[in-house]
Parts: sequence; C-alpha cells; structure tokens
Amino acid sequence: MDKLLIKGGTQLRGELRASGAKNSAVLMLAASLLANEPVTIENVPHLRDITTMIELLGSLGVEVIVDEKMSLEIHANTIKTYTADYDLVRKMRASFLVLGPLLAHYGQAVVSLPGGCAIGPRPVDQHLKGLQALGAKIEMEEGYVNAKVDGRLQGAHFMFDFCTVGGTEQILMAATLAEGQTVLENCAREPEIIDLANCLNEMGADITGHGTDTITINGVESMHGCTHRVIPDRVESATYLIAAAATGGCVKVKEARPEHLEVVLNKLREAGAKVTISDDGIEVDMEGRRPKAVSIVTAPYPSFPTDLQAQMMVLNSIAEGTATVKETIFENRFMHVHEIIRMGANIRLEGNNTIAIVEGVEELKGAPVMANDLRASVSLVIAGLAAKGDTVVDRIYHIDRGYEQVEEKLRLLGADIERVQSR
Ligand code: EPZ
Repeated sequence: MDKLLIKGGTQLRGELRASGAKNSAVLMLAASLLANEPVTIENVPHLRDITTMIELLGSLGVEVIVDEKMSLEIHANTIKTYTADYDLVRKMRASFLVLGPLLAHYGQAVVSLPGGCAIGPRPVDQHLKGLQALGAKIEMEEGYVNAKVDGRLQGAHFMFDFCTVGGTEQILMAATLAEGQTVLENCAREPEIIDLANCLNEMGADITGHGTDTITINGVESMHGCTHRVIPDRVESATYLIAAAATGGCVKVKEARPEHLEVVLNKLREAGAKVTISDDGIEVDMEGRRPKAVSIVTAPYPSFPTDLQAQMMVLNSIAEGTATVKETIFENRFMHVHEIIRMGANIRLEGNNTIAIVEGVEELKGAPVMANDLRASVSLVIAGLAAKGDTVVDRIYHIDRGYEQVEEKLRLLGADIERVQSR
C-alpha cells in the first residue's frame, strides 16, 4: 500500500493545470449508455474512480477505447447484460448511476445497492422515488435494485424531497428517453450537473433549465453519439489554491473556472489571500502571511462545498483566530479532525460532531496520519505541507481516487513529497 512522505514547511509556488472534473466524467461514462452510437469523452482525469467505471462498463459488455490523452470512446451498443455487480458498485457509489440510463434505454436494469460509506449512510431513496415517478417498477432482491419498465419510461412532474446531486443526475439521465415531458423540481445546481446536461443535449436530448432548481426534459426516442470535453475539476483546483494559502505561498491553477468557485475564492480573500483571476486561470497569493480564520458552513451549490470542508479546516487550524466549520451535507465527514489534532491542531467538536470549533495554532507538527475518505486524506497532505517536520500519510489509495498525479503536481509547486510503497 502506498504512502506519501512529506517534509513540511515549504511555501508552495508555481503553476499547474486543472485536471478534468472527476464527478462530471464518471457521470458521462454512465450517460453514454443512453446512446445508440459511440460517445467520446475528452479531458477525462486518470483516476481510480474512472478505472472503476470503465471496469463496470466492461462488465456489462460495453467496449471502451482509451487513447493516450485520456479521451474515452464508449460503444454502448456492444452491451450484453444489464446487471451491475456488488463488487464494482461497492468500490464507487457513483456506479449506481448506471441504473437510470440502463432502464431508460433497455427497459431493465439490475444494479447493486451501494450500501453505506465512510462519510455516512448515503441512502438512494430519491433516486428510486424519481424513477418510480417515471413509471419504473422497482423491486429489492438480495441487495440489488431490480428495475423494469414496459415500453418507455413516461414523463412526469417530480419534486425531490431535498437537494441531491446524484438523485438529480439519475432522474435527469432517465428522463431523456422517456415519452413526453418531465419537470424536475428542487434540483441540485452543481456545475457537474450542467456539464452532464450539456453532454446529454449534444447526444440529442432536449433539456432546459439545468443550473437552476427546475429542469425540464422533453423526452426523445433515441440518442446519438457526440464528442464532449469535461469541465475542469473545481474541487481539485480549489484544493491546490487552499494548499497555497495554508503554506503562505503563491499558486496559479490554469484552466480553473472562477465562476465555479465564487464562495471559496471569497473565503480565501477573507483569509487574507490575494486572488487574481485571469483569462487562463486563478492565482492565490498569500504573500508569506499566516491566514486569518474563516468560518464556513457547507451546503449545496452555490454555497461552500462539502468536498472542500476538510481542506479549509486545515487552513483554519494554523490561522490567526477562531473559526467555526459546520458540515450540513454528510453525517460523518470530520474524519480528518482527530488526525489534525494529532499534528497539534486545537479543534473541539460540538453539535453531535457536525460543528468544529477551530482555534488556530502557530504551527502544526509532522506525524504519521491516515483517513478513510478522499477529501479527508488530501487535507492531511495539506496539513503535512504546512507543518514543521515530517508527515507520513497512509492509505493514499483514497487520494488516487480523485487527485491525478498528486505528488507530481505538488512537486511542480516546490513541495518535498515522495510516494513510497509500504511493506
Ligand atoms: C455527490 O455525491 C458527489 N459525488 C460527492 O463527491 C459530493 O460530496 C456530494 O455530491 C455533495 O456535493 C459525485 O458526484 C460522484 P448527494 P452524492 O446525493 O450525489 C443524502 C467526492 O469527494 N441523500 O447530493 O452522493 C445523502 O446521504 C464526493 O468527490 C439521501 O438521503 O451526494 C447526503 O447526506 C464524495 N437520499 C445528501 O443527501 C438520496 O436518495 C446529499 O447527497 C440521495 C442523497
């Protein structure tokens, strides 16, 4: 199992390029199941979650051709089975998103329930309710969702009980091939949903309103191929910008989209960073200063993203002053807290472990640490970079799920970081 060895204390300086958005790309691989022709997805990040999705498509009989630039050509018409096995869905929850496309295109799907995960129970009730509203017959059999429809799904009016990214994506994809009009209300508005809807429209779907809380889909009879380029990863981009601020450095992320990161960039300004937006990216310059504490509350887009909460917690742990960090999306997303405390942070948990009161300390000290979630793990890397001394981050397979070439990118910025294999 690989580990990252970090010698802390270097201010990150330099430029890097944002990778394609993981949470868009995995969805587009699922969406390609809707088409009758090959779909090409460009700017796909080289990540473990993508490999898992390719494996899942392969297990259905779908042919996926990958070129050296990570453009993926997906031939859904080679499909042989409509069953997504537990072993693959368990590895990555987003695999569950093949359910809607399989059902809409082929009238049947058997997909394993994803089960719980490290950051909380994460039910899929909204996915199932939405599909049932479109006329799907759903039965649960031995941990699998068995979904069927006679003929085509039927357009419907459906309101989500609360904002869900995956739920919105699932029903949006299914409704593209339904008969008639579907109106979805209380939808999530994340940039990845807009990217997915744009890709679906390029495949021949008729979707409007994506990016607002009401999406209208006029069902079409069939969908064709397209070539779509995935948007830059806003969470990856912001992770490097927060790392720059936490180490007092100056980093430019090329291709990062400021319009996707408004709240985050405002928080970095509040922390004392100089943020410069240019045609080709975003630069954060801390000019060697210690950050000021900034309180955050995570909430659906466009509010502060839960996927950047851990990284911001690390910045606060060495900031001047006291910050409150409140997590409202997931029940168990403070796994990094106890590890950062081991590095010398002063953090108190309240409100049934959903609120962290972070009193900034002058410095963190290197230590062996590990976490069971992608964003928690990368926050420990930032802590190690900002800390005095050596940090060893274990279980970095979580980081490899969502950060392309993390140590190469950080080395470009001057970090002293090395990947080693533990025995
Ligand atoms: C997506 O997860 C992202 N994953 C997550 O990124 C991200 O943290 C999350 O959205 C919130 O922004 C992908 O896009 C692949 P939700 P998703 O449905 O779709 C509850 C990362 O690190 N809920 O918006 O699963 C759920 O348990 C990952 O890249 C139900 O109760 O998030 C959660 O508490 C981690 N029933 C809340 O809603 C449902 O049917 C929001 O979940 C669906 C969700």
